[in-house]
Amino acid sequence: MNLTTTFCGLTLRNPLIASASPLTSSIESIQKLEANGIAAVILHSLFEEEINHEIHKIDYFLQTHSNSSAEASSYLPTEVDFDNLQSEHYIEEIKRIKAAVSIPVIASLNGVSIGGWVKYATKLQEAGADALELNITYVPTSIDMQGDVVEQMYLDTVTMVRQHITIPLNIKMSQAFSNPANMAKRFVEAGANGITLFDNPTRVDVDLELLTALQRANITTSASLSETLRWCAILYKKLPCTLCANTGVHTGEDLLKAVMSGADAVALASVLITKGEDEVKNILTEITSWMEEHEYTSIEQMKGSISLIHTDNPAAYERNSYMYALQHYRR
Ligand SMILES: Cc1cc2nc3c(=O)[nH]c(=O)nc-3n(C[C@H](O)[C@H](O)[C@H](O)COP(=O)(O)O)c2cc1C
Repeated sequence: MNLTTTFCGLTLRNPLIASASPLTSSIESIQKLEANGIAAVILHSLFEEEINHEIHKIDYFLQTHSNSSAEASSYLPTEVDFDNLQSEHYIEEIKRIKAAVSIPVIASLNGVSIGGWVKYATKLQEAGADALELNITYVPTSIDMQGDVVEQMYLDTVTMVRQHITIPLNIKMSQAFSNPANMAKRFVEAGANGITLFDNPTRVDVDLELLTALQRANITTSASLSETLRWCAILYKKLPCTLCANTGVHTGEDLLKAVMSGADAVALASVLITKGEDEVKNILTEITSWMEEHEYTSIEQMKGSISLIHTDNPAAYERNSYMYALQHYRR
């Protein structure tokens, strides 16, 4: 059985990638994931705000001490402990993880604006990251901000990050665009080698005791897979990039549906958080059994087999399927 696939120009032994989460923040858990068969890991994100905070702390320190006397110029910083910077830790972590495992290690930057933080992409590459994932999550709260301005902000950030690296760049996309397919196309034009469909927004809730709004990390179920399947099917073979299915992949069946819709790989977070690293082995067993039973010999053979590439008029197909589903509902 040939489970080999590609992700962002990297060859993977199978389509299972560990998505950014607390599970990809420790060497122990990454080693367990590798031992259970995961094909690549995406590290938990380094956030723009963390980098900027540290840049500002360093600026502040350097300015404060620029008036010090020459005799004092060699003394070591006390206000800022350079060894304790979150971003420097992240870089050291990449080096340690790269030395500890043999699967591809993908760094993750999470930010929204054009600024000095994007230069960190170079450092992540130098630390040995095999690829970089960029997660741009921006919630426009101004009612005057038009969609094209938001889109341009995303594209400018991708262009800037691309300019700082030569390793593959994967964009983890939000679903919240008027036309996600066109946005994916423009991300590729801006330099993306891979698109992940989709990032999952945090869950907004209200604490009725504290009378305050709060956001929680969103643990999904297979029921969240729907939009991922829809857009993988629409985008299959439409762009010169790989597609990674994310949000709602929990089982071998979910993986098979995603690959048949057009995904090259799948990224998992919730299922690994809730069931543990061993679940990778169960998913791999489930897909190989299913493939044997249905006489498939490779992942390549299944890719995109139920995508919209085989449909003459995809828009009409989508509309007809939508109407049919609503008109034929039976209790
Ligand atoms: C607790 C938790 C932490 C996460 N941390 C990150 C992160 O640091 N960076 C990121 O891009 N996505 C992060 N995510 C999102 C996941 O990588 C993934 O995109 C999302 O959970 C959807 O996949 P799933 O359905 O397999 O959970 C996190 C998700 C959870 C649940």
